[in-house]
Amino acid sequence: MKHLLSTLDLSRDDAIRILDIAEEMAAVGTREVKKLPALRGRTVVNLFFEDSTRTRISFEAAAKRLSADVINFAAKGSSVSKGESLKDTAQTLQAIGADAVVIRHWASGAPARLAATDWIDAPVVNAGDGTHEHPTQALLDAFTLRRHWAKANGTGSLGTDLAGMKIAIVGDILHSRVARSNLWLLRTLGAEVTMVAPPTLLPVAADSWPCTINYDLDDALAAGPDAVMMLRVQAERMNAAFFPNAREYSRRWGFDDARLDALDAHGLANTLILHPGPMNRGLEISSGAADSARSAILDQVSNGVAVRMAVLYLLLSGDQQRTAN
Ligand code: CP
Repeated sequence: MKHLLSTLDLSRDDAIRILDIAEEMAAVGTREVKKLPALRGRTVVNLFFEDSTRTRISFEAAAKRLSADVINFAAKGSSVSKGESLKDTAQTLQAIGADAVVIRHWASGAPARLAATDWIDAPVVNAGDGTHEHPTQALLDAFTLRRHWAKANGTGSLGTDLAGMKIAIVGDILHSRVARSNLWLLRTLGAEVTMVAPPTLLPVAADSWPCTINYDLDDALAAGPDAVMMLRVQAERMNAAFFPNAREYSRRWGFDDARLDALDAHGLANTLILHPGPMNRGLEISSGAADSARSAILDQVSNGVAVRMAVLYLLLSGDQQRTAN
């Protein structure tokens, strides 16, 4: 693996390898194993043209737990606001000695563009590009789901996939890079996916996607999903024509307290609730659901560090022996 741009590029074996290494990495950061020396002397640049809390911080934590140096670059406050191009920014990073670039960009395709040029000779990790993809989010979601699925099946996680698991992805699919990356990866790992959304928040291309489409959340919940992945309503990417109105959206497609109770009524004791964050509490998810015992939302955040460690490790050090210090 030279870059990580899309989950479409990952075979089942690639994905399982990343998840298995992430299982090992999950032990790092504890009092017993604070850091690994694997990336000592390497420099990871976080190049963020869009805001982020979880992704940027967890890539920083991941790189530091592997003993890499980290440079955080935010477009706001940099020479990008004076009109500097992606090419000149990348060449500046190359001159500084970046060994890997983690890029989030508002333009779909910007990470692939960076990876295809000779502006910088370093692995590129897509940390979210426009409405296109967010592969490490999908990997950390798969990691979270795999642990849950293995527990439900009474097996260990290592080496396993998500065959037979039923996942409902709910909400603003149209603008969601998380939904796209998840769909490709979940299918690669053998899960069955249902997309649930208002018709105006589904892309036309969804008709040809390898998933079931359902416009009715209550109906999708009654079908007994093993996990429900709620998506953020991305108000900043839409105009009023797409969005019903907040109250109507919440009533029909929000995971509220009544729907939390409905999972019990359907006998779905093990159905997990996920959300990539940041959440619009009270719109796509209620606080009752987000903070419930079914919620894996904070597990997703913790797991993000281990998964991003695995990705950086694979891109930067291949199969070198890992030893704790
Ligand atoms: N899930 C996610 O990408 O969150 P951030 O925007 O906070 O990084």
